[in-house]
Amino acid sequence: MLVDGYGRVATDLRVSLTDRCNLRCTYCMPPEGLDWLPKPELLTDDELVRLVRIGVERLGITEVRYTGGEPLLRRGLVDIVARTSALGAEISLTTNGIGLARLAAPLAEAGLHRVNVSLDTLDRETFKRLAHRDRLPDVLDGMAAAERAGLRPVKVNAVLMREINDADAVPLLRFCLEKGYELRFIEQMPLDAQHGWRREGMITADEILDRLSAAFDLAPEPDEARGSAPAERFVVDGGPATVGVIGSVTRPFCGACDRVRLTADGQIRNCLFAREESDLRAAMRAGASDDELASRWRAAVATKRPGHGIDDPSFLQPARPMSAIGG
Ligand code: GTP
Ligand code: 5AD
Ligand code: SF4
Repeated sequence: MLVDGYGRVATDLRVSLTDRCNLRCTYCMPPEGLDWLPKPELLTDDELVRLVRIGVERLGITEVRYTGGEPLLRRGLVDIVARTSALGAEISLTTNGIGLARLAAPLAEAGLHRVNVSLDTLDRETFKRLAHRDRLPDVLDGMAAAERAGLRPVKVNAVLMREINDADAVPLLRFCLEKGYELRFIEQMPLDAQHGWRREGMITADEILDRLSAAFDLAPEPDEARGSAPAERFVVDGGPATVGVIGSVTRPFCGACDRVRLTADGQIRNCLFAREESDLRAAMRAGASDDELASRWRAAVATKRPGHGIDDPSFLQPARPMSAIGG
């Protein structure tokens, strides 16, 4: 098991497959992109599958989520999903949806269970302004293909930014209710590569709920239903549909966290906001056995801090941006 000093057990492994992306969402990376990780530093498919296997077979991982950057850009993705779903863990994917129209069916066939798709607006011009690429139609096609391929429930992640897409909350919920997608609004976190996040500028969970309540009747789901999920859910207009709010900053859920992360270059991070990483790639390439890798991994989780510390005066944004950590 992967247990930390506060008794939390990590069972949910989030694996970043690449730090590259074909969008440039303002809350994530600059329009010109970033210095991508050099290929030799990335885990190979075999290395990656080996680490996931160790996680599942020896360390109690029951859920694996592939993220990025944009995980659909990873060439061997379908094969990676097939090899890791055969281990018995539940496999899901968080994606911007571009390319999903083509890949949803083969991924479902390979054993993928679910997808979460980022969608911050339904307005093409706003999309271009926010993501610096004119790809909204591809995203919508991708979501529809996921639904058809049975990757349900399709969950939708929306980050609201003031004066960019803050008017989109209500239209997004209407759209998701109509399509049967499960929408969640996310508070923006200080993880953008540009270090442009300001607490005062952030649209808070309270504000999001106020906006939605003007158009919908929202009833909180009972606390017991939440478990370790980051989203607080509300039943919309009497149900059965729900909308979620992920209030990472103002309503932190670190006390129930069951996550651990593996970066595309083979580093274990025990938190999005961790200051240290444990280099499993170097250990593996130096010939470490499965036992040795498992014990390094346990040690990395053992030192997890109690929370993200965004409110501490000494808070420092991690050196790695979200796109290189995995969302
Ligand atoms: P489901 O199991 O499908 O509900 O997945 P999820 O909500 O955990 O995953 P997803 O990848 O869709 O993430 C949604 C949002 O939650 C993203 O903005 C993530 O960055 C945020 N998130 C995921 N894990 C953590 C975490 O450990 N800490 C914090 N603070 N936010 C997280
Ligand atoms: N704060 C909150 N969420 C973010 N995401 C990307 N960057 C940030 C940020 N700075 C979201 C994306 C995606 C998910 C993995 O994380 O919208 O849905
Ligand atoms: Fe790409 Fe996701 Fe970052 Fe947007 S948030 S630029 S889709 S990695």
